[in-house]
Amino acid sequence: MNHLFIANWKMNLSLKEAEVLCREIDLLRDSKSDIIICSPELYILPLKEKFSSICFANQNVSEIKENFGAYTGETSAYMLAQQGIKYAIIGHSERRKLFGETNETVKAKAENCLQAGLTPIICLGEDSINRKKGDYLEFIGEQILHSISKTDKEVIIAYEPIWSIGTGVVPTSEQIKEVARYIGKIIEEHGLLENGFKLVYGGSVSSENIRDILSVAEISGVLIGKASLDREEFFKIFQGE
Ligand code: PGA
Repeated sequence: MNHLFIANWKMNLSLKEAEVLCREIDLLRDSKSDIIICSPELYILPLKEKFSSICFANQNVSEIKENFGAYTGETSAYMLAQQGIKYAIIGHSERRKLFGETNETVKAKAENCLQAGLTPIICLGEDSINRKKGDYLEFIGEQILHSISKTDKEVIIAYEPIWSIGTGVVPTSEQIKEVARYIGKIIEEHGLLENGFKLVYGGSVSSENIRDILSVAEISGVLIGKASLDREEFFKIFQGE
């Protein structure tokens, strides 16, 4: 199976730096890995124009149902699809925390993606309080039931424990496996994703832990934040898979 490497650049890099990084990725990547680069929205089209063999994705879409309208600052999933963009990250914990996105917002955004022909990369995961209290599976179950609608279209789920994002602390492969199985069970029990789904892990992914993470059979790839901005580390992650 080809592993999926999703680079989440967040609000980082100048356009020039982004071009340099893409050039290197284009030259050095191997054929057994699929890469999706979630660059700042403003850079997607110029990068796509220059690097046609790289797959670019957005880090967000509008929750508004209409394709066009008087919604200052919004970009619809339809607009992204019209520009040949195939994926968007939805419900990243930073958006949930800093921009007040709820499970319902995430659901609306994911539905807009599916309607427009984009594959949503739906992020979910517990915080350290849920983890310590031991109710993390319940919390994740609620997130799934309230943010994922029934569909037969392609969906990617990113399990990203908040306590691991940007902290250098990574769950053990046993902990990832437990959550991965639980996610699969809830989705199956509720008949949500008729054609299955890909599950990726995100949170402090590095060249040190990539093997362990990808040793979990249920995990099809990784969502990489900080390490995806560092060319050498990003390549070590590939090579270490
Ligand atoms: P990180 O970020 O790899 O820097 O922990 C992951 C993410 O926010 O998706």
